[in-house]
Amino acid sequence: STDMAQDRATATRLTTWRRPPNHETATLPVPFSTENGTSPTGEYIWHYQNTPGDTWDYTSTQHIIAADLEIDGRMRKVLMQAPKNGFFYVIDRTNGEFISAEPFTKVTWATGYDENGRPIEAEGARDKEKPWETIPSAYGAHNWHPMSYNPETGLVYIPAQGVPLVQSTDPAWELNSHKPMSTMSGMGWNLGYLFNAVAPEATPFGQLLAWDPVRQKEVWRAEYVSPWNGGTLTTAGNLVFQGTADGRFIAYNAATGEVLWQTPVGSGVVAAPATYEVDGVQYVSIAVGWGGVYGLMQRATERVGPGRVYTFRIGGTAEMPAHELSDRTTLVEGVPYDADDVAPGLGVYVSNCLFCHGVPGVNNGGAIPNLGYSDPVTLTNADAWVLQGAGIHNGMPRFDAHLSEREVEQLIAFIQGTADALRPK
Ligand code: HEC
Repeated sequence: STDMAQDRATATRLTTWRRPPNHETATLPVPFSTENGTSPTGEYIWHYQNTPGDTWDYTSTQHIIAADLEIDGRMRKVLMQAPKNGFFYVIDRTNGEFISAEPFTKVTWATGYDENGRPIEAEGARDKEKPWETIPSAYGAHNWHPMSYNPETGLVYIPAQGVPLVQSTDPAWELNSHKPMSTMSGMGWNLGYLFNAVAPEATPFGQLLAWDPVRQKEVWRAEYVSPWNGGTLTTAGNLVFQGTADGRFIAYNAATGEVLWQTPVGSGVVAAPATYEVDGVQYVSIAVGWGGVYGLMQRATERVGPGRVYTFRIGGTAEMPAHELSDRTTLVEGVPYDADDVAPGLGVYVSNCLFCHGVPGVNNGGAIPNLGYSDPVTLTNADAWVLQGAGIHNGMPRFDAHLSEREVEQLIAFIQGTADALRPK
């Protein structure tokens, strides 16, 4: 955590560039200018920190859009960003000056920003001694999927979402320990947090938000059945394109949000579309395929790709390719286990398997198979995967360094036992 006054002092120092004495770069032909927030020398000019002392996994790697906006009667050269923490930022790119930050979704970690651009943190958001439902969660209110800005409508199109997660301090945590129930500690996670030790109250959602960056207000929105929808593209022809987690590619009226056209694409979409012109014809292309941190564990389609690039044009006549159904639709049945092994198996599962394979049987899996829908032969032979590296070349780690055959039996009991418990539901 850095002190804001110090940040400002640093920023001021860095923006007052001085010619370095007796240094080769002193003869640079291009004089340094902050006008566009660029430095021909690559020198650090300013920074703004939107989540000081981050303890919620609010990375700020979401991309940044430059635009010229009229704010309070003045044209400003701004940067806009909607990072994971749920606030939409408008910053003066010439000098790093904070202009505004407002929540574009429900936020529980902070109540707003003061005039210095410092977050006003909510009580209880930092200590997490009690289970704390962090909204947005570590999945972000907006993650990697690019947003886009349309100068004609003045709107930013944000693929926004909510993925509920309750964080609490792990009372049994020790540095580099590997303990049952300590989330993914077997994979070397060292967070000291338990996740969803109590069930979250929020429900998952996905939205396309049309956001006015000057008034810092939503103008329209589209609701989706799932989080993790694709990036957006907006055009001078007043369109917004987006692929969705539920396997569609949609064109909206950019000003009103009216759906103008849509098509199934056979799998969830994560990427953003692109548009281009060849010989006077405009095309729009999209890389369709499912994955990413949320998509590893779950999907919102019964179809599983394969990953494909689709290209559309007005009057296009090509036939749509066939879409493949997921083969993971039947809960695993009949693998023998000892009922007393289910509870210890849960502990081993949470500390080694959970964040890749998800909860057995709750959905039909993401880019990584949900083990609740395994073939019984595969589950019976889980030791080949867990201890002997049968899937190592496809990303399934081997655990023989710290899991025993006995623990694999407990894992099988937990997976088959959970499938049996879920089947009647
Ligand atoms: C880093 C992510 C990751 C972790 C952690 C992980 N797995 Fe896997 N696992 C995979 C991937 C990826 C595959 C698919 C491999 C393939 O298709 O060859 C897989 C495949 C499997 C399979 C075969 C599934 C099938 O039906 O084909 C089993 C069984 C399995 N894992 C069990 C486990 C268990 C039990 C744990 C915890 C001890 C675990 N895995 C932890 C990524 C992971």
